Amino acid sequence: MRILTIETTCDETAAAVIGDDLEVLGSVVASQDDLHRVYGGVVPEIASRAHVERILPVIDETLRRSGITLTDLDAVAVANTPGLAGSLLVGLVSAKALCVATGLPLIAVNHLQAHVYACRIAAGREVFPCIGMIVSGGHSSLYRCREALDFELLGATIDDAAGEAFDKVASMLGLPYPGGPAIQKAAQRGNPKAHRFPRALLGNREVLDFSFSGLKTAVRYTIAGPGKQDFESISLTEQQVADLAASFQEAAVDCLVGKAMLALEKTGLTTLCAGGGVAANTRFRARLEEEAQQRGVTLHIAPLQLCTDNAVMGAIAVERFRAGHFESLELDVLPGLVRKKG
Ligand code: KG4
Ligand code: ZN
Repeated sequence: MRILTIETTCDETAAAVIGDDLEVLGSVVASQDDLHRVYGGVVPEIASRAHVERILPVIDETLRRSGITLTDLDAVAVANTPGLAGSLLVGLVSAKALCVATGLPLIAVNHLQAHVYACRIAAGREVFPCIGMIVSGGHSSLYRCREALDFELLGATIDDAAGEAFDKVASMLGLPYPGGPAIQKAAQRGNPKAHRFPRALLGNREVLDFSFSGLKTAVRYTIAGPGKQDFESISLTEQQVADLAASFQEAAVDCLVGKAMLALEKTGLTTLCAGGGVAANTRFRARLEEEAQQRGVTLHIAPLQLCTDNAVMGAIAVERFRAGHFESLELDVLPGLVRKKG
């Protein structure tokens, strides 16, 4: 079996060809970071236009690297939820066009399930049932994953996603987009105890939700002064930037790790799978490893190249193929997070 997987949920245009045993025959990721950097975040209209330009060359190059042609494929899979509406549409329309042209069946991929499935691919063995944690630019959520395709939402951010907070705080500190890697780098020279930023909801054991907007505002007020928004005129020293970055990162990581552990406690599950762009963060990875070891939890964190968006994690389509879950050409995009099971 060979499945072409397509990923255009946000600002990466990606495709891959996956085989029976989840082996990757070829994979291409065209990043749009350079296009969005000047704005300090993803501009949806620019993202969808860039996907239109890149999708066919990315698919062509993926097939070339895989050493196959369209006729060697058994299905076409595409991430149709959640994500930016315009971006999702480019991937979906491309996948449908390929299906119409070739007669291949269409498979729908849930981008969040795919982020967790990145851990399954890397592990090379079963990881379910587990707590699935997705920490990315658009999402921060915890799921009870009974099986690869059976996810139940336990908690999610009630405002900003973790990655969004990294990106916005980076912009306040004059660091480049994407903010996560820039904050991580600056934080290496900083003191994580220099500022005591709020850890919203962390003390509330009733909920598995996250909130990062208060943390973001706290950083803003620390830079500009209480109640003041204008910090254009304020210049920070390199050490001040490093201390703010380290203190912010510590607070964000505390919240993420704390709720992941609470999810394990509440469900009695003993395996944790974490994926998404923020799971690339070295401090987050180290803290998760520490906590997991202390509690005897089996931990899978997606390898770095599978944390940020890619089409390899679309290998979850192999599970759908085996279960006979194919879609009609009526399949639509579903941009928002679905809070019910699925
Ligand atoms: O999963 P992803 O590529 O896209 C979404 O589905 O959102 O995640 C992108 C996010 C960005 O917000 C970026 O700043 C963050 O992941 N990120 C990081 C790191 N690398 C990427 N955040 C913290 N530390 C990192 N090392
Ligand atoms: Zn993602």
